[in-house]
Amino acid sequence: MSTSGNPTILVLGSTGLMGREVVRSLNERGVTPRVLVRDPARLRPTDQVEVHRGDLRDPASLREAMQGVDAVFHISPHEADEVELTRTVLNAVEREGARLVFSGIHIDASNRLAKWAMRTIYGRMLPRYRGKIAIGHLVETSNTNPIMLGVGNFMQCDEVLIDVICDGQFVLPTHPKGLNRVDLRDLGDIAANVLLDPTTPAGAYPVCGPRSLTGAECADIWARELNVPVSYVGDDDVAIDTALTAHLTGYRLEDWKSSFKALRGFAVKTKKSELDATTRLLGRPPTDFTEFVRRVVAEHDLTPANANSNATGSEARR
Ligand SMILES: NC(=O)c1ccc[n+]([C@@H]2O[C@H](COP(=O)([O-])OP(=O)(O)OC[C@H]3O[C@@H](n4cnc5c(N)ncnc54)[C@H](OP(=O)(O)O)[C@@H]3O)[C@@H](O)[C@H]2O)c1
Repeated sequence: MSTSGNPTILVLGSTGLMGREVVRSLNERGVTPRVLVRDPARLRPTDQVEVHRGDLRDPASLREAMQGVDAVFHISPHEADEVELTRTVLNAVEREGARLVFSGIHIDASNRLAKWAMRTIYGRMLPRYRGKIAIGHLVETSNTNPIMLGVGNFMQCDEVLIDVICDGQFVLPTHPKGLNRVDLRDLGDIAANVLLDPTTPAGAYPVCGPRSLTGAECADIWARELNVPVSYVGDDDVAIDTALTAHLTGYRLEDWKSSFKALRGFAVKTKKSELDATTRLLGRPPTDFTEFVRRVVAEHDLTPANANSNATGSEARR
């Protein structure tokens, strides 16, 4: 516990899409979390954090950052050794007797055999997700009093590709029945709520957005708010690969390519039970896509006159 009476919190992956929203939400409540970062320059200038320089591949640096923490936020990073990295994190959290709040894939079913069967089926259908599925199981069975936040497709994927959208192409593939999309600020707020509340029961919780959208609907909303024509091109593999290759590199690029292509085959409907659970955890309804788009347009100053000159994507290529 910190001197302020708040739990001491370590945010891993704090320079990434999810982690930075957890830091933002904690800061908004006056909480300064610890972060373990490879390169402090990748933090945002506004982040109020206690910086510990280190690497998940260096268990000593992780142990040092974890000393005296009550709760840890973790994602599975886009790394080839993501399962091993998560084992290292779980060992350190267990040794410290802390709680883990994990955001990633978690496969639920009525009993252990059904869960195993589901993990096996999904692993066969989506070979690139095998590591992420294994990580969800490792977290669930760890001695970390875990909270697992199952997040849908990130609205922030669009922000990474904002210059492509401003150039008139919406490349995220969607099933004709739509894809539930989540504003990561909502995930950040939910993670902060549970990191700060040790009484939240361990378990898996869904984090969803308010509705499912098709790519054409997303393109139309961007077109309306930017006042430029935007077309859905999520069926065009060349357009997808060109857009992703211009913004991402390495394992992260391959993960995104694989996820984008998988999305085409899956309708992700919005379930009332998941929406109710998200609303309960948030203490308010989740953010609608139109509201997200208006915020991004305002934050990047993407008025029609300067949409193309200011649209540089939300982060450097990596
Ligand atoms: N995109 C989607 O719509 C979507 C939806 C659901 C789930 N997901 C899942 O979300 C996960 C990725 O989350 P994200 O998008 O927040 O990740 P991200 O933006 O790629 O960020 C990854 C974070 O992990 C850090 N990291 C990576 N390797 C590290 C190491 N060895 N030591 C210390 N820190 C390390 C990175 O630090 P650096 O800044 O130093 O690189 C960065 O802060 C993936 O498992 C993905 O499958 C994605």
